[in-house]
Amino acid sequence: MKKGRVFSGARPTGRQHLGNYFGAIRNYVALQEEYDCVYCVVDLHALTSLVDTSPLREYTYEMVLDWLAAGIDPTRTIVFVQSHVPQVTELYTLLGMTTPLGWLTRLPTFKDKVREQPDNVNYGLVGYPVLMAADILLYKADAVPVGIDQAPHLEFTREIVRRFNARYGEVLVEPQMVLTEAPKILGLDGVSKMSKSLEKDNSIELADSPEDITRKVMGAVTDPARLYKKDPGHPEVCNIFTLHRLIAGDEARMDQIARDCRGATLGCVEHKRMFARELIEFLAPFREIRAKYAEHPDDVWDILRDGAARARVIASQTLDEVKRAVRLP
Ligand code: TYM
Repeated sequence: MKKGRVFSGARPTGRQHLGNYFGAIRNYVALQEEYDCVYCVVDLHALTSLVDTSPLREYTYEMVLDWLAAGIDPTRTIVFVQSHVPQVTELYTLLGMTTPLGWLTRLPTFKDKVREQPDNVNYGLVGYPVLMAADILLYKADAVPVGIDQAPHLEFTREIVRRFNARYGEVLVEPQMVLTEAPKILGLDGVSKMSKSLEKDNSIELADSPEDITRKVMGAVTDPARLYKKDPGHPEVCNIFTLHRLIAGDEARMDQIARDCRGATLGCVEHKRMFARELIEFLAPFREIRAKYAEHPDDVWDILRDGAARARVIASQTLDEVKRAVRLP
């Protein structure tokens, strides 16, 4: 039986954090067992926000190292850079002709970007979701693993497919969004989404050193209502408890920690120390594999070159079908 296909992408922002990992990368890795997977470094998307583009190469390399270290297997899975497969820009143009402008300007993700970069509301920013739809549709992906912040873009992609297929025939495939059980990871402030764009220490990177992990965890916000150890804690609103549960893999033990926290026998500082130790251990194999890949940077670029060649085969085929459907002469 033919395997289904998975596609996902991420902006080259450099080293990946726990939000990327628990929200998306963990699924990228798991889905390799059952699907043909295609994972893309979306450098063109990055241009919608980046003004200084000089770190793009380094960011791409660092991000792909993280993917490989997390378990993405380039012998099975296609890993490539978006701009190396230019067919995507042609599909982007064609999809743009069936996209009502109002759909784009009404998207909450667009409004957020306008707030974030009011001096740089470029044309590419408006078209961002169309390019993202082109990414997914070029590979006829059945499933797209992402964090919950990408949900509006996935819904937009599905609407584009319906509209395009109604006009030109059943050419494009409507993809399903795939979420992990932790589709939104909060940053160390315990309030905003873990992300790179905020001040540096709001995220923990997978490749952080044990010292950095300890420093960041010890500075993280826990239960905001708990000022002293003798105050009863509320693990259900404590971000450290949430993160701890994700790496612990032992529910009975987490239940005990929750009881100790509620009963004020386990203090936040003590709990953070415990979590930091376990996170360092959890990430140890990752750091090891990453260091091995980092000994041969050329191999990483070879993986990306090979990935682009494999991606182009699929991309050209879909693009031909789409052009025929649109009746381009
Ligand atoms: P990007 O680069 O912002 O993030 C990459 C992936 O990580 C997830 N993620 C999170 N999940 C949970 N909690 C968090 N704090 C967190 N931060 C990031 C994101 O949801 C994403 O899955 N528009 C996309 C890139 C893209 C794409 C695509 C994705 C372009 N084309 C086609 C899928 C399919 C983005 O900016 O992701």
